[in-house]
Amino acid sequence: MNPIIIAIDGYSSTGKSTLAKALASVLGYTYIDSGAMYRAVTLYALRCGYVNDSVVKVDQLVTKLPEINISFVLAEDSNSEICLNGEKVESEIRGMEVSNCVSQVSAIPQVREMLVAQQQLMGKKKAVVMDGRDIGSVVFPNAELKLFMTASEDIRAQRRYNELIAKGSEVSIEEVKVNLSKRDYIDSHRDTAPLIQTNDAIVLDNSHLSQKEQLHWVLEKAKQISSSLG
Ligand code: DC
Repeated sequence: MNPIIIAIDGYSSTGKSTLAKALASVLGYTYIDSGAMYRAVTLYALRCGYVNDSVVKVDQLVTKLPEINISFVLAEDSNSEICLNGEKVESEIRGMEVSNCVSQVSAIPQVREMLVAQQQLMGKKKAVVMDGRDIGSVVFPNAELKLFMTASEDIRAQRRYNELIAKGSEVSIEEVKVNLSKRDYIDSHRDTAPLIQTNDAIVLDNSHLSQKEQLHWVLEKAKQISSSLG
């Protein structure tokens, strides 16, 4: 099969990463979680004291961007884990502290410029599945397969809540709902690379689809596209 790029965009907690990981595993592709990269930069900003009450000290963070190194290492379960300046930060970036200001950090054009360049390098040889908010619109506008994922607000909040509780987080469903809708609003309304559904993206509303059904449906599409490339 000819290697392709699969770009998955959509609102928060629509199951993008679950589907992307499964696709990458079946196809033997590399999975790249672009949201983790924005989360890692946010963690860096928090640790340096550049965020106060969800307000980011943009100038200070931008000056420090050259000192931020983001990489992925293979974890024992064969998924990849993100590292910030060599330190594994996979679980720290998933907490509410980072979630509460990641959209503000992601709206900074210089942060996006740095991360988009890295993401484009990772996709140079194709055979990647990348999920995020601007993958089909900005990072890989020529991706062979673009998906735009969505699901009802209640279902998304419940999914994220379950994930956080399973990780031992003390959070309420209301807190999760507020965080999701705030992030979706900022992510879709920012000036630089807002979350949009491109004309050539296939919409996948997975409110009532199992993971197996979604995977089967997308795999068929990926195989058709790949074989049509001759
Ligand atoms: O996918 P996620 O929820 O882990 O992403 C965290 C935040 O990062 C999300 O609220 C918006 C931002 N993000 C972005 O702006 N562009 C991307 N390609 C991926 C994520």
